[in-house]
Amino acid sequence: MYLVGIITVSDKGARGERLDRSKDVIEEVLRAHGYQSAAYRIVPDEKKEIQQALRDFCDEAHLPLVLTTGGTGFSLRDITPEATAELLDRRVPGIAEVMRARSLEVTPRAMLSRGIAGLRGRSLIINLPGSPKACRENLEAVIEPLAHGLDILWGEAVECAAPELTKEVPGYKHE
Ligand code: MTE
Repeated sequence: MYLVGIITVSDKGARGERLDRSKDVIEEVLRAHGYQSAAYRIVPDEKKEIQQALRDFCDEAHLPLVLTTGGTGFSLRDITPEATAELLDRRVPGIAEVMRARSLEVTPRAMLSRGIAGLRGRSLIINLPGSPKACRENLEAVIEPLAHGLDILWGEAVECAAPELTKEVPGYKHE
């Protein structure tokens, strides 16, 4: 079971003017897939505070998965992807590609989320949009294969063994 940190990025939420329903939805999806929510922070749309939370969760708590919600859109205050990008060692473009592709089947506004994903050390960071509905749709679109990536990142799986495929590949030599 992998531990997860959730960072809600919201000016109103950080001021206590809005209930954080996105966090509840994220935790529900996580639980359904065998992940455990282990840390939570709510910060305003300020690059420094977002980055401090990311550093704490990745570098101090060593959480394998860190999800942010909010601040991915067009508001002049939305800065989550930029704050995240500066801290990543390696990008994982496919995760954001799948989130947007699957979300476009639900709403054309999915293209407005600028969220990214990538690795900082042994932590995978994924930016989710802000609304509870968008959180559910985006996270459910990608969560299933994440465990395999985390297994590789944390050394539980050394390589991507695909025996059913390799048997069918002509010329493939078994050890
Ligand atoms: N993705 C899904 N799956 N469902 C949605 O309802 N909303 C979009 C988009 N992604 C949405 C979605 C909208 S309306 C916006 S503005 C962007 O996410 C950015 O959201 P944020 O600024 O709250 O991060």
